[in-house]
Amino acid sequence: MNTHPLRELFKDIDIMSSIAQSYGTPSYVYKKDRIEHNVNRLKNTLSTYFHKSHICYAVKANSNPHLLKIMKSVHPELGGDCSSPGEIYAAELADIHPKDCIYTGNYESKRDIATALKKGVYLNLDDETSLDRLLKFGMPSRISFRLNPGFGKGSFSQITTAGENAKFGIPAEKIINAYQKAQDAGIKKFGLQCMAGSGNLDEDYWVELLTAIFYHTKAIEAKLGIDFEFISIGGGLGIPYKDEDTPLDYDRLFSKLSDLMYHNYPDKASAPALWVEPGKSFIGDAGFILTKVTGLKNSYKNFVGIDAGMETLMRPALYGAYHRLYKVGTHGENDGSYDFTGPICENTDRIAIAREFPKIKEDDLIAIVDAGAYGYAMSHNFNTRPRAAEVLLDGNAHRLIRKRETIENIFSGCNV
Ligand code: LLP
Repeated sequence: MNTHPLRELFKDIDIMSSIAQSYGTPSYVYKKDRIEHNVNRLKNTLSTYFHKSHICYAVKANSNPHLLKIMKSVHPELGGDCSSPGEIYAAELADIHPKDCIYTGNYESKRDIATALKKGVYLNLDDETSLDRLLKFGMPSRISFRLNPGFGKGSFSQITTAGENAKFGIPAEKIINAYQKAQDAGIKKFGLQCMAGSGNLDEDYWVELLTAIFYHTKAIEAKLGIDFEFISIGGGLGIPYKDEDTPLDYDRLFSKLSDLMYHNYPDKASAPALWVEPGKSFIGDAGFILTKVTGLKNSYKNFVGIDAGMETLMRPALYGAYHRLYKVGTHGENDGSYDFTGPICENTDRIAIAREFPKIKEDDLIAIVDAGAYGYAMSHNFNTRPRAAEVLLDGNAHRLIRKRETIENIFSGCNV
């Protein structure tokens, strides 16, 4: 049984009501010290177990520059893992230096490649044809390719990003050729990246993945005489979304990965640096949605209507993802089973299905937790609903870090 790190906060009806009154609902709220904790944990673990390491925060998980700045204040060398010109822009707004960033596109347009190259971020290429497009714009000083080792793992099939069904990466049997091609083109410095899935809490999987990565780096080095400067395991460090999930033990995990690294590369000084691209594990459990009950309906099922639907949090509708919900104030004993739904005209609009929950009434506040990663970032305007506000909670003090969108904002480009 793991208790959510912000569980006590939701009992504080004064703070929660003050946020709801100040900024309205639904609002995304981020707890500053939890972000700091998450960044420190990975930073300290990597420096304990690895001679050289680098962290690129996966900006796609949440690109609010205020949050990126908090991460950077804890770890000044922090880079960004960017997958679009917009994510490079967000990193720049937070003073994250492009030279510390990696750009992992897929099926990138020429314009995206040119932007990344011009900004000076390292390009991690998804295919040999990406290299062809890149070389039309210039000669990068260093590149990496994204390996698809033929297997992957994620908490849902939809977020498994390697294996035969994945659109990402270069298949194992083509990876040597890709590096050969880059070497022939005159590129001299290399890394290798492999992001095989998101939401992994299984230690053995990480060992299996890194073992496969080293199998390939060793083969490439032997064939081409390349010395890899870095190996990136991508993101994918899971967080416990459910009470019964067991969180990763960072010390145990990274000590195993370190043993693997220095078994394969015994000379620590010349061994590749380990790069990690955390998204979920940095910001996931630090953010929640504060939402209000709009209506209760006893139909063939019992429904709780809330003002945050699938337009505010896509994960349950898209993947069947589970997010814990807490009633603000006293949570109380469970009273029945409810589907929690928003105001969207889609029957997939669910935040939770058949969830046991205490007695609840209109206007009560509810916290939807673990919404910091891929929450706001994947929110959208369906039914012409403006996006939520974003709020930073620093101790008991709160401030707006992104205004709630307005209906006028949605139409600002229409010029009617
Ligand atoms: N690096 C690359 C190249 C990635 O594609 C991703 C995520 C990450 C790093 C960060 O992975 P993380 O640490 O967050 O697992 N929208 C899904 C997750 C999709 C992840 C896609 N790539 C979700 O809501 O669970």
